Amino acid sequence: MTSHHLCRSAQETMNLAADAAHLAQGGEVFALYGELGAGKTTFVKGLAAGLGFQQPVTSPTFNLVHYYRGGRLDLVHYDLYRLKRLEEVEALDLEQELSQENVLAIEWPKLVEPLLPDSRTYRVVFAETQDGAWRVSMTNP
Ligand SMILES: Nc1ncnc2c1ncn2[C@@H]1O[C@H](COP(=O)(O)OP(=O)(O)OP(=O)(O)O)[C@@H](O)[C@H]1O
Ligand SMILES: [Mg+2]
Repeated sequence: MTSHHLCRSAQETMNLAADAAHLAQGGEVFALYGELGAGKTTFVKGLAAGLGFQQPVTSPTFNLVHYYRGGRLDLVHYDLYRLKRLEEVEALDLEQELSQENVLAIEWPKLVEPLLPDSRTYRVVFAETQDGAWRVSMTNP
């Protein structure tokens, strides 16, 4: 099932993600698809807020991964924009994290798609509208 949401501000994108976080039970993967500046990190900020994290969420563009531990569920935030080869991802423990009771959010997930568990992966697609808002489409597992 795919749900469509019109997000006219970063706050609306965060609210959508926070709602998803409230429903999370652990083991969910949010694969975030959209161009540069589409709101993917903003969505992760909402996930973090919804899971109860107070600290600021910043983009892990250079480290590829940030960990948020000690919330209702732990959150692991990947940004794989700079990933060139699937082999590089081995160092990120992605597969190990996938097997644990936490929530994963992955920006630029194309390369790791073969590793994502279909039964637990929410695919979130961001598309800009003509008036500069963002249509966020979420496909449930
Ligand atoms: N629905 C929205 N409407 C308007 N502005 C938004 C919306 N969502 C996010 N923004 C703003 O757009 C900017 C870029 O957002 P963000 O960093 O989340 O994009 P991104 O998809 O993670 O980009 P990148 O591909 O570079 O990682 C931020 O300033 C954010 O506040
Ligand atoms: Mg980002």
